[in-house]
Amino acid sequence: MSVKQEPMLGFDEHDERVRPAVEVVEFEESAKRMVSRRGFLSGGAAVGATAFVMGSTTFAAGKALAGEEAKLSRLAFEMVKANTKDTVTVPAGYKWEVLASWGEPLFSNAPAFDPTTGGTGASQEQAFGDHNDGMAVFSHNGRQILAVNNEYTNLNTLHANRADGKPANADDIRKSKAAHGVSIVEIARQNGQWGIVKDSEFNRRITADTEMDITGPARGHDLLKTKADPKGEVAKGTWNNCGNGQTPWGTYLTCEENFNGYFSSSNKNMPLTPQMKRYGISHDDWGYNWAMADERFDISKNPQEPNRFGYIVEIDPTNPDARPKKRTALGRFKHENAEVEVAANGHVVVYLGDDERGEFLYRFVSKNKYVVGGDNTDLLEEGTLYVAKFNDNNTGRWIALTPEATGMSAAEIAIYTREAASKVGATTMDRPEWVASNPHKAEVYCALTNNKNRGVKPNAGGDETPATGPNPRVKNNFGQIVRWRPEGQDHTAPNFNWDLFVLAGNPAVYDDAYAGSSNINKDNMFNSPDGLQFDSKGLLWIQTDGNYSNQEGFAGQGNNQMLVGDPETGEIKRFLVGPKECEITGSAWSADRTTMFISIQHPGEDGNSTWPNGGMPRSSVIAISREDGAVIG
Ligand code: FEO
Ligand code: CA
Ligand code: CA
Repeated sequence: MSVKQEPMLGFDEHDERVRPAVEVVEFEESAKRMVSRRGFLSGGAAVGATAFVMGSTTFAAGKALAGEEAKLSRLAFEMVKANTKDTVTVPAGYKWEVLASWGEPLFSNAPAFDPTTGGTGASQEQAFGDHNDGMAVFSHNGRQILAVNNEYTNLNTLHANRADGKPANADDIRKSKAAHGVSIVEIARQNGQWGIVKDSEFNRRITADTEMDITGPARGHDLLKTKADPKGEVAKGTWNNCGNGQTPWGTYLTCEENFNGYFSSSNKNMPLTPQMKRYGISHDDWGYNWAMADERFDISKNPQEPNRFGYIVEIDPTNPDARPKKRTALGRFKHENAEVEVAANGHVVVYLGDDERGEFLYRFVSKNKYVVGGDNTDLLEEGTLYVAKFNDNNTGRWIALTPEATGMSAAEIAIYTREAASKVGATTMDRPEWVASNPHKAEVYCALTNNKNRGVKPNAGGDETPATGPNPRVKNNFGQIVRWRPEGQDHTAPNFNWDLFVLAGNPAVYDDAYAGSSNINKDNMFNSPDGLQFDSKGLLWIQTDGNYSNQEGFAGQGNNQMLVGDPETGEIKRFLVGPKECEITGSAWSADRTTMFISIQHPGEDGNSTWPNGGMPRSSVIAISREDGAVIG
């Protein structure tokens, strides 16, 4: 997520500007730990693969390939060079096509997309949403159903009907709310071309106005009660749906991330509670102006409405009549994705990142067990939420967020999760984005996208952010991928060992820690890892949402991209480069795994792209396949 549109601030910048000033802390100790690239390449105690040493912090990272190992590479494609073209570039022998774009009608009687206005409220409600992000494909009775998040919108393109790109009336707000949420569509390859099956009974839009049940420990709590819902049991809508998850019982998990940016206050003198501040709720929204047409977005009139957002929502994509369920047991924060594992003992484990500078990494463990062929529909209803504590010696521990440990009730932990995690001393992270679990071993990866505040100032809760452990670089503009192995290969175990799979960086510009780890070179370098997903072979697909200026520290890195990493060797190769000013995010495979689907989100967010059709830039899901039709993942 990176919004550049005017007059909006970037999503990650906005909260900082509106947040009360915090004292800038000089982490001299952290700075001392920064050593030269040559220094940490000299190695140290080995943990997993090659280990590096930075000051007192020992950690491992992927090693570079050489000689025989390189010949045995499992990454059997010719690496794509970094570029700044306004198109998608894939390796020789591969091809791509657009599967669906923002505004495409899901039904044959719906209006066609209008590229001069961006459509109306009515057209958007029957069309593919904007800014597609995380996704999953479900095979159902021989048919394929794609569920895909529609995270947010760029005002200038969504409101192309307005000269200033700002919503001006209730229909603009209706369109904006309908552009968010989730699109569920049947897809098929017809005459060699992937597309939406129009009028399929599975086609459905879930928007910021769709009713859904609040479940779990927060259901019915006083903090969730509003004028419109005095029982605190039914929320209206979901938005800023970022990453996703997919359960073994066939449901889709959509993750509410920057939900705060849609609330504002008509009373600019309204005092903000500490909890509002921790979650970035302020007097001003981020330009969406939903309060203009819907009073529930005015916190001076509905101060508890924001407490009903920031959750994981479970959806049955095969039943268009099923009500989505907000699973409050999985906590409330700026959810990135939800990586689901069934542990060897049958408990369901969900790994969850909170994407904000200095926030935390979480794990949910279900109370009940998964039963093959049984009724698993409410496994996410009840369980224990844990938060990660990383030690410098490559060990770590999951700390349970219980009433005993936090002094908060189960409902309060579910609603004010960040506060609970701060109370138990969790490790502040460099913006945890996607988590991905290796299908071939008990090993889990998380993209820590970047954090310019590392070692500079505390998080919004006042927790310090020293450059230690898996977050070793001050003013970290490049990001890294941490991985951990649960003790005894048990995803429910309290302890784990960790190392770094890669430190992104730019070895063409820097010769210190910002050059990256030894599996980064001038050819495969990138910044800001974000989307992560394993394929069936155990290869890790890495997507970026970073700085595409191609200048200064980012010179030579080009547009946002997708790479593939081999967890066993540390090798990383660039597979794809996206069009100008986009991010690459979300991934899924067709049932036969000959096609990979990914999201190209917000091409031309600064106005400099005409992808994919040569006109108004449109976020799109693309389908990538091999020219010989072989399996690609
Ligand atoms: Fe929506 Fe953290 O990315
Ligand atoms: Ca991101
Ligand atoms: Ca992301």
